[in-house]
Amino acid sequence: MAEGRIFSGMRPSGRLHLGNYFGALANWVKLQNEFDQCFFAVADVHALTTLQGKDQVAEIKPNTHEMVLDWLAAGMNPELSVLFVQSHVPEVLTLNSLLSMSTPLGWLLRVPTFKEKVRQMGSDEEHIPYGLVGYPVLQTADVILYKADRVPVGKDQVPHIEIMREIARRFNHLYGDTFPEPQALLTETPMIAGTDGVAKMSKSLDNQIELAADAEETTKRVKRMVTDPQRQRKTDPGRPEVCNVYSLHKIFNPDNLDEIYQGCVSAGIGCVDDKLMLADGINTYLAEFRERRREFAAKPGYVDEVLADGAARATVVARETIREVYAKMGLA
Ligand code: TRP
Repeated sequence: MAEGRIFSGMRPSGRLHLGNYFGALANWVKLQNEFDQCFFAVADVHALTTLQGKDQVAEIKPNTHEMVLDWLAAGMNPELSVLFVQSHVPEVLTLNSLLSMSTPLGWLLRVPTFKEKVRQMGSDEEHIPYGLVGYPVLQTADVILYKADRVPVGKDQVPHIEIMREIARRFNHLYGDTFPEPQALLTETPMIAGTDGVAKMSKSLDNQIELAADAEETTKRVKRMVTDPQRQRKTDPGRPEVCNVYSLHKIFNPDNLDEIYQGCVSAGIGCVDDKLMLADGINTYLAEFRERRREFAAKPGYVDEVLADGAARATVVARETIREVYAKMGLA
């Protein structure tokens, strides 16, 4: 077992897709066997930075349920990891408030993901939620509340980890050594392109293939995939190296890769058949996952039980940290 304590989180986005799996979840499953202390949270409070009003928040619970079913079906094991919902351990909100008192606003305004959001909001700048500016503070509270020091994330989250280290360091400097400075554990993954062949797979672009989709839906989506734009007719030779379908064959049909490559460049296999082979590959790859997911989904109350147990275990650690923080900050 490796030294260190892992924390990571995902916003409750509902059913996960292949990009989420290869970008994060597969790595989490592996890490829980390598580190003996792992915490994984559904970041529902973070989700509130972009959701507002009854209709929008009504999606948080069902999305949490669907996502956690995916976690479990993918092999997240509640015996090895503490799986819980962020807001069920409200101590994180206490730590968030306290950390926000010593975090310079300038640090937060410089975070690239925040600047991007501001740019998107344009003239609506006045309405940027206060909590959105503080997103990285809450994320820091998430991690250091459990004194985690390794945070498995993708490249896009690296600036958040850097600010996390600064916030932890500042607390330690002001009030005495309390928190480890968390380190990113970068997930090296192939970029999974969406079915449009342009952007990375994402639910908001509707170019995703969900892990939990049935075989038919998967095939339908794969058939829609954009291939080599220069290959207009079946008799034109294709270029696998620029083809999105081929990039997925590398993952889902590793054993037939040569045959597929040759078939494409010699125009022996057409794009339609090629896609059917990919759909078969994906469906075979996910068959066990989908079966396990059905079993978990059929157990009434199971997901809620896992999350309640996780919250109870997380609370023990969280209360201890808050006690220590109160004492160091002169509040206790
Ligand atoms: N912000 C992360 C994301 O959008 C999710 C998250 C919340 C997280 N808290 C975290 C990731 C703590 C790592 C550590 O993907």
